Amino acid sequence: MPVAMSPPPIDIGIPEAERRRIAEGLSALLADSYTLYLMTHNFHWNVTGPQFNSLHAMFMGQYTEQWSAIDVIAERIRALGFPAPGTYAEFARLTSIHEPEGVPDANEMVRQLVVAQEATARTARNLFPVVDAARDQPTADVLTQRINVHEKTAWMLRSLLEA
Ligand SMILES: [Fe+2]
Repeated sequence: MPVAMSPPPIDIGIPEAERRRIAEGLSALLADSYTLYLMTHNFHWNVTGPQFNSLHAMFMGQYTEQWSAIDVIAERIRALGFPAPGTYAEFARLTSIHEPEGVPDANEMVRQLVVAQEATARTARNLFPVVDAARDQPTADVLTQRINVHEKTAWMLRSLLEA
């Protein structure tokens, strides 16, 4: 019978307390990202009106990118030594995004996505000082990329609403 071996403790130069704080911040970002993903896919399904073709396609590009990003965020939490949240109940508890009610019209969908994109950017940015102080460069890299995507997407969505 093979003897189960316990792995050595994580020793990457970031103390456990700081890894825990970063994992909690990343869990909030994962919850926002998953909620934003679902909102965007929902709107891809349900959008109507003269902008149907362009919004349907634009939303697909956005949710496809978000789907890849949630995996990167969750796996960074695992590499830091903590479990990643993975249920709707946890995401609902952790997210800062207000979910849509009913089926908004196309412009209201775009407005809600601007708000949710910016909320996700803020969640990522709020974690940055903790990550910086801990010299956690891989998480800083993830956060930088996510902030960039969410701010750029917010600009593009916002532009749809400008005269
Ligand atoms: Fe589709």
